Amino acid sequence: MANVHILEHPLIQHKLAILRSKDTPVKEFRELVGEIAGLMCYEATRNLPTEEVTVETPITTAKCRMLSGKKLAIVPVLRAGLGMVDSMVALIPSAKIGHIGLYRDPQTHKPVEYYCKLPEDIENRVVFVVDPMLATGGSAVAAIDFLKQHGCRSIIMMNIIGCPEGVAAVQKAHPDVEIYLAALDEKLNERAYIVPGLGDAGDRIFGTK
Ligand code: PRP
Ligand code: URA
Repeated sequence: MANVHILEHPLIQHKLAILRSKDTPVKEFRELVGEIAGLMCYEATRNLPTEEVTVETPITTAKCRMLSGKKLAIVPVLRAGLGMVDSMVALIPSAKIGHIGLYRDPQTHKPVEYYCKLPEDIENRVVFVVDPMLATGGSAVAAIDFLKQHGCRSIIMMNIIGCPEGVAAVQKAHPDVEIYLAALDEKLNERAYIVPGLGDAGDRIFGTK
């Protein structure tokens, strides 16, 4: 699938197996979401441009490489995306953070927007949209629509679990967006939950059910 990267690193897959278990308690679930997001961030930033710099070491000068080009932003889709932010900021401390609040209407499964706040210079940044679940793709498409309306042209999507329906929706609406997943699951069920999935990511991160 074009623009879809499935991260099959053993550490990611091991942590994902524990994350999926219905017996994993809230504290461990929350920690695992962060750990997986950090590992995914390492892979999803692999192609960022770097430039040569000269650094004075205590011994001599060294030619090194540092990130160049556009600055970065992390945009979690509330609520569940919040669980992925801290570990990414730990790796990219200079990234700015925007928030897009969307929830799925339980009847229609369509995203409903309730909060949005983006960095002022968001259009000049490479934006990582983060959300543990890519189900129908409605939330992802709405979040990317919103970012493009604000001038963003360089957007990367990071979801822990996706499914063919969600990937197809994002690819159709936004073929320019790269999607990073830890797993591409089988399908959606009649309630638009991912199968086998992990249940409701927001409820499991925040302990609301
Ligand atoms: C979940 C998830 C995504 C969305 C995915 O959020 O975190 O944002 O559903 O589904 P979709 O691809 O069909 O749009 P939810 O709406 O449950 O809100 P929450 O994060 O506040 O729990
Ligand atoms: N949102 C979730 O949290 N889980 C799913 O399986 C689908 C949407």
